[in-house]
Amino acid sequence: MNNQPSGQLVCVGTGLRMAGQLTPISKSYIESFDIVIAAVPNIFTRQWLKEIAKEYICLNDHYEDSKVDGKTRRDTYRRMADTILREVRAGKRVCAAFYGHPGIFACISHMAIADARSEGFEAHMEPGISALDCLVADLGIDPGACGMQSMEATQFMIYQRVIDPTSLFVVWQIGIAGDLTLKRYDTEPAHLQIITDKLAQTYSLDHEVILYEAATHPFEQTRADKIRLRDLPYASLKQITTLVIPAAQALQIDHKVLAQLEALGQVLAPKKVMV
Ligand SMILES: C[S@@+](CC[C@H](N)C(=O)[O-])C[C@H]1O[C@@H](n2cnc3c(N)ncnc32)[C@H](O)[C@@H]1O
Repeated sequence: MNNQPSGQLVCVGTGLRMAGQLTPISKSYIESFDIVIAAVPNIFTRQWLKEIAKEYICLNDHYEDSKVDGKTRRDTYRRMADTILREVRAGKRVCAAFYGHPGIFACISHMAIADARSEGFEAHMEPGISALDCLVADLGIDPGACGMQSMEATQFMIYQRVIDPTSLFVVWQIGIAGDLTLKRYDTEPAHLQIITDKLAQTYSLDHEVILYEAATHPFEQTRADKIRLRDLPYASLKQITTLVIPAAQALQIDHKVLAQLEALGQVLAPKKVMV
């Protein structure tokens, strides 16, 4: 006898660009599940979801919670996950939709899936097209060329992190860098000066960095503004801006490991040593 409760959860991503970045399997969950619960910023995507879903709940009003004294974005995300779980517990097949990839810098889906599984419900995530995927395509950067580090801006600021200047460094949420209140959706030059100073411990202030904003609909231009690191504090940033820091130094050979491999008869192909 199957004791699994009847509710079910799948978390899907709608991609970044309106229409076209949704995978066929995610679309089929949106169309066929009992209810779609969505936290997507694009009004047209919301409208489209509402039209094709059997039942629809928009989570965007939950963002108002963090305006209440004593509440932060964490409370907002917790309530969003709770709203999703409420419908799962009611025995529905729930499709929770988020923009981009549902599991990249998107804690709500991870929380909801963990909660649902802990209560015995079937829950899983379908991958979506994230800002990172768009960045690779739009900027023509291959993260495999010299490796990649990827970090949230404020996390980089407040923790001791070791940055490798020979790899690509992707800094998410630069538009809210330095916000410790978890209430704000912007940043200011003083905060950006602190992250600039910290980055300057690894990079020259003349190092060229990219302010990246993927177009979210067909009539919008992708932003890929190249600026000097020193100019970051006064740059115009949005919530969707991602800071892209290309490698500043060439890869250095680890001669000890290379010698070990050569002792096994391996020969280094010339291209492998290039950045
Ligand atoms: C909370 S995270 C959400 C990421 C999303 N789940 C994804 O898969 O891309 C928000 C951050 O993603 C990045 N981001 C979101 N939209 C973007 C866009 N249109 N262009 C570039 N980066 C974007 C920014 O770094 C932004 O601060």
